[in-house]
Amino acid sequence: MNGAIANGPILSLRNLSAGYGDEPIVEDVSLDIEARTITTIVGSNGAGKSTLLKALYGLNRRFAGTIMLQGQAIEELSPIRRLEQGLAFVPQGRCNFPLMSVRENLSLGAYGLAREVAARRLDGIFALFPVLAAKPHVAAGNLSGGEQQILEMAMVLVKEPRVLLLDEPSIGLSPKNLGIVLQVVRDIQNAGTTIIMVEQNVKGALSISDTAVVMELGRVIAVDTPARIIGDPTISRAYLGRRATASDA
Ligand SMILES: Nc1ncnc2c1ncn2[C@@H]1O[C@H](COP(=O)(O)OP(=O)(O)OP(=O)(O)O)[C@@H](O)[C@H]1O
Ligand SMILES: [Mg+2]
Repeated sequence: MNGAIANGPILSLRNLSAGYGDEPIVEDVSLDIEARTITTIVGSNGAGKSTLLKALYGLNRRFAGTIMLQGQAIEELSPIRRLEQGLAFVPQGRCNFPLMSVRENLSLGAYGLAREVAARRLDGIFALFPVLAAKPHVAAGNLSGGEQQILEMAMVLVKEPRVLLLDEPSIGLSPKNLGIVLQVVRDIQNAGTTIIMVEQNVKGALSISDTAVVMELGRVIAVDTPARIIGDPTISRAYLGRRATASDA
């Protein structure tokens, strides 16, 4: 419809402040996200990473700032309207409907789509995720942790979002499943989706990312390529090895 925006960033934040109740947690964040890239947000516990993702999806209170998705302002829209505009969010935690089958879960993700469209999208999902195609009738709760995480991502991908927000997709997974989830994130990117994620496994996440965003005390303090972020001794020491430094009291 609007070809002129095709070359600009797919998502732009300007001076975004958001939080809960009376106080912003995330303050004055400005970012441009290029289409078809993977961005990983890193920072200490409580830095505001999840709060920023929730703000993008409209799940908390916005105090100031704008959010443009493909050139359209979305900051006043409800989460459902943002989803309709092409922004999707997979929150932390897995498997919302453990007793339902893989196919039934995916059908829930297709809620609101015309039947033929839903059928075509499910075919596309099964083609993209052979691990799900192999188990359409298995109860979601009986999938492995990694498979459940893939199912959660697949459920929102049924809506064919342009931008996918992932909060800790590998939390609690074994190293093997972490590798599988990261590969799936790559596959999603290759299918044309832009990804913004928060991930505790910083090393693994940065290895597939185009951009790293570092947050501290609710603010973005650095945006750069993963190589340059890892190569910065101050940032690297403070934020990339934090699980090992045990300041978690
Ligand atoms: N629903 C809420 N109501 C009030 N305060 C909240 C809420 N959720 C988070 N906070 C506060 O906002 C701050 C940032 O939390 P947030 O969850 O965004 O951090 P995070 O960077 O995602 O941390 P982690 O790495 O531990 O997931 C914390 O001080 C937290 O206590
Ligand atoms: Mg978090």
